[in-house]
Amino acid sequence: MTAYDRLRFGGPTVRETWVDAPRREFLTPAPPVWPLLTERLTLRPFEIGDAAAFVDAWASEEWTSLLLSRPMNPAEVAELVRRRTDPGDGEFIGLAVVHDGQVVGDSMLHLQGTGLSEGEIGWTILPQHAARGFATEAARAVLRLGFEHYGLRRVVANLDARNDRSAALCERLGMRRETHRLGDFWSKGAWTDSFEYALLADEWRAW
Ligand SMILES: CC(C)(COP(=O)(O)OP(=O)(O)OC[C@H]1O[C@@H](n2cnc3c(N)ncnc32)[C@H](O)[C@@H]1OP(=O)(O)O)[C@@H](O)C(=O)NCCC(=O)NCCS
Repeated sequence: MTAYDRLRFGGPTVRETWVDAPRREFLTPAPPVWPLLTERLTLRPFEIGDAAAFVDAWASEEWTSLLLSRPMNPAEVAELVRRRTDPGDGEFIGLAVVHDGQVVGDSMLHLQGTGLSEGEIGWTILPQHAARGFATEAARAVLRLGFEHYGLRRVVANLDARNDRSAALCERLGMRRETHRLGDFWSKGAWTDSFEYALLADEWRAW
């Protein structure tokens, strides 16, 4: 249908009704009901005011050393949080992890692949809240979101191969180390190795 035909006949066309609209609906992920609740945590979309909680951690060379991003100043952190408050096309889900009313970290799920059937999971926990199992508890909720709400078939985590705590977290979650890539991660001026961990929906159910 040309633009002129559309003017004459109006729309929607048969193709738009029966092909394009269902395809768009199928590929546009519907958000779940927020927040996600776990035993100790609340996972909710970011709010602008969350930036303050992340400023010190993101300024730290040590805390950011195994992340792809370099340290960030407060303005950059504010911008990062602002971008995460934008739901966009719904394929990137960035969540603040809250315990007792305090932001303790964040979790993300990035929907990918054909028909958005795969997801990449990510996490950070602020240093003062580490080693209390918060990252594990939050990640389990995000995996459940991926497999049960979004119907994902496979979820992966990519990490710097030197990130022992992140690898331990993957193992606690029942993820398998599928790939060890040599020198493919450009981080802080050097090429480093990376791991990809993965979990299939069937494995998650069995777990
Ligand atoms: C990667 C990262 C999120 C892991 O955080 P973490 O604190 O190790 O993970 P958890 O919050 O799940 O805590 C697990 C620890 O708490 C302990 N723990 C205490 N109470 C617990 C509970 N109720 N449930 C589960 N674990 C508990 C566990 O035994 C474990 O301790 P261990 O490491 O000595 O075995 C964190 O190191 C981080 O944010 N690093 C900087 C950013 C980063 O690298 N992000 C990842 C990029 S890939």
